[in-house]
Amino acid sequence: MTSLILNISKIVAQAFADEGLEAGFGQVKTSDRPDLAQFQCNGAMAAAKVAKLSPRAVAEKIVARLNTHDIFSKIEIAGPGFINLNLTDDALGEYVNNLACDPRLGVRDIGAGATVVLDYGGPNVAKAMHVGHLRASIIGDTLRRVLKFAGYDTIGDVHMGDWGTMMGMVISELELRHPEWIYFQEDFSGPYPDESPVTIEDLAEIYPTASGNSKSDPARMALSHRATVELQNKRPGYYALWQKMVEVSIASMKSNFAALNVYFDLWLGEASVHDVIAPMVEDLKAKHYAVMDDGALVVPLKRNEDTKEYPPLFLYKRDGAVMYSTTDLATIVDRVEKFHPAKILYIVDQRQNLHFEQVFRAAYLTGIVSPDVELTHVGHGTMNGPDGKPFKTRAGGVLRLEDLIALGLEKARQRLHEAGIDQHFSGDELDDIARKVSVAAIKFADLQNNRMTDYIFDLDRLTSFEGKTGPYLLYQVVRIKSLHEKADYQFDPSHRIIVDRSNRDLVLMMVEWPQVLEAATRDYAPHFLCDYVYKLAQMFSSYYAATHVLSQEDVATKISALALSHLVLKHIEMILDLLGIYAPQRM
Ligand code: ARG
Repeated sequence: MTSLILNISKIVAQAFADEGLEAGFGQVKTSDRPDLAQFQCNGAMAAAKVAKLSPRAVAEKIVARLNTHDIFSKIEIAGPGFINLNLTDDALGEYVNNLACDPRLGVRDIGAGATVVLDYGGPNVAKAMHVGHLRASIIGDTLRRVLKFAGYDTIGDVHMGDWGTMMGMVISELELRHPEWIYFQEDFSGPYPDESPVTIEDLAEIYPTASGNSKSDPARMALSHRATVELQNKRPGYYALWQKMVEVSIASMKSNFAALNVYFDLWLGEASVHDVIAPMVEDLKAKHYAVMDDGALVVPLKRNEDTKEYPPLFLYKRDGAVMYSTTDLATIVDRVEKFHPAKILYIVDQRQNLHFEQVFRAAYLTGIVSPDVELTHVGHGTMNGPDGKPFKTRAGGVLRLEDLIALGLEKARQRLHEAGIDQHFSGDELDDIARKVSVAAIKFADLQNNRMTDYIFDLDRLTSFEGKTGPYLLYQVVRIKSLHEKADYQFDPSHRIIVDRSNRDLVLMMVEWPQVLEAATRDYAPHFLCDYVYKLAQMFSSYYAATHVLSQEDVATKISALALSHLVLKHIEMILDLLGIYAPQRM
């Protein structure tokens, strides 16, 4: 079904067309002044210039035509020529009653099956995932769900960091510590053992040591660089060791992501485009896009209109190693060839903006993507501690994602205890509730911010059952479910919502939903969904407080209130699903 706003827009557009004006002037939106009207159309202002009339004169002609429609209860011209529109309660009622049977809740198919690749998460092999990866993961996963709902064919790729210098640092560190390992014997020709020689805990210690040593000692760094190049050339022992490290890392990443309800369609990484790199580079050389610069191979990116120097994109460093920019460019080659995407979105820390700008410039310049393919860096800010700096542990180290999840869970249990909820549940059910509360708290606290802004991670606030929090929303969901249980209510399409003064604002709020979803899709902005769902839940809460649903004696009125609560519940649950948040059955 089409959204109500689109339906009204069609009527108003027709009125403009009947006046010999462009139908596009008839676009309607929800009113900026809900105290004055429900909807408004501002088209008369622009149309006046074309019609060579005053805006009010145009508005009067349009209003005369709109007056023949019985869906409007009041039409007024305000200010210079705004057309303010109110619908009859019957018209609103008809719309919401249809909405109750629409699985898409009024949202049209925007994507029309075009493919979008989303690159998010981006954890690094051999390095424990830290809270910095939290934002990329949950914003990315939410956008994947939102775009899918909007009708796109979506592909979520974790794009692990697994081919850079950090791998050479770890491999050279292991070689220094265990020169006797078969992985380091040049004359050993395999097969290599199935079992990994290192665990994820080992790696958590090895990488920081190797990185610290390399940074403080140029000779040590040279070993790391050499190991990186040899790995990239697939030296058998190094490559076998690398495969094991990838395996143990993926197992750990998967458990972290599952704990947060974050999913990926593809588990690829930088290394998976290794074979794409050489032919890509040859091609770029042949077309003279790639040139030697001080021993390195680069793609110059400066444009005539640039007023400052613009750094070139590196393909090969002087030592022959490929770089982050090389693998990202090759990944575009690969994605274009495999998926023919209309868009590739990179949900990555905003601090990497220059990197993506360079990669995109290079991709368009060299024709790796055609100009109609959208490449967007969907940047995000950082999650900070109370000191306003990126969140750290008490000991001052980076907080691992795993530990953050554990902290959330502990706090959720404490909250459930304070609220006395843990007295009514036990065992697996209590565990499940605590987990859901914790995930809702962490994700909603993050997603409700404009993604570009930094925010302060305040566990006390975000796990509260009051205010704009995930747990508050779960509580509202459970409350509506419990209302239905007490009333022994099951929705049936024959149930009518009767719109009147008591519920009109709530109904109008649901009329707005398709616009909210469209805006979130267009701007890659999950916080629009959060603002909306919180407002809807609050509004329902006030409505419910003022309406005695269970004790209502008039059957039609009672059914109407229950059907309305059912529709509100459908909205809240669907939006929470888009945010990757799930409510328990009871709580
Ligand atoms: N591994 C990178 C990091 O930790 C993020 C990868 C983002 N995606 C990409 N295609 N570059 O910083």
